[in-house]
Parts: sequence; structure tokens; C-alpha cells
Amino acid sequence: MRSEDLVKAAKEGMQKAYAPYSGFKVGAAVLGSSGKGYTGSNIENASYGLSVCAERVAIFSAIHAGEEELDAIAVISSGKEQVKPCGACRQVMAEFNPDMAVILADGEGNFEEYSLKDLLPGMFVLKKD
Ligand code: THU
Repeated sequence: MRSEDLVKAAKEGMQKAYAPYSGFKVGAAVLGSSGKGYTGSNIENASYGLSVCAERVAIFSAIHAGEEELDAIAVISSGKEQVKPCGACRQVMAEFNPDMAVILADGEGNFEEYSLKDLLPGMFVLKKD
């Protein structure tokens, strides 16, 4: 799947955002190693801290569908600026591919592509002896 298509899917995901508290809508789309795509949106809660970011909704949907590794994620928001994933979402991305391609779009759909390695240097990886 091309990056443009993943950004388009993220934009579609954003339409399902539930963001009555912040008014800031976010959409994400993940590309699983099977070649299938999965979308997500942010889902907020009256108990604010329970809100979940669009990235994690998309990632968990992909994993629950049986994907074991994720190749890429695209993120877009209702804001003008290129959206930057929070630290918690970056760590969740790392779980399923430390080299994941992270495609970040601005409000006009222009995007830049990063490697997760550059967005989360020194990421935590559990190594059991
Ligand atoms: N949010 C995301 O869904 N992803 C991000 O990358 C940044 C923040 C959400 C969380 C909350 O619902 C709203 O945006 C405002 O912080």
C-alpha cells in the first residue's frame, strides 16, 4: 500500500473520532505485514485520562485481527499542523516493529515519513535472560 493510500485511510478513520472534550479529532491507519489496513480514531472519556489515542485504537485493532508485525502507520488530525504521536503511542508502536514507518500528515494531507527509531531513540525492549 502506498503512503498516500494509508494517509487517505487515516483520514477516513478520523471521521469516527469521538472527541467531545478536546474537539481535536485524530485518525490513524496501520499497515499489517499481511498487506491489510486497519483504521482507528481517538476515543475520549468524561474521565479524561481514560481517553485513547487514534494510533493505539488502530494498532490494537490490527493485532486483534491477527497481525503479528506492523509495517507502517499514518496519522492525521483535524488541526493544521503535522500531528506528532505521543510518547505512549510511540512505545506501543515499538512493540510491533522498532523500524515501523511513521507517516505524519498535516491538515491538508501533506505528509512526511519517519522511522520509529528516529522518533523514539533508546526505546525500551524487554529482554529476558
Ligand atoms: N491524540 C491522538 O489521538 N493522537 C495523537 O497523536 C495526539 C493526541 C488525541 C488524544 C485526545 O483525544 C486528543 O487528541 C487531544 O489530546
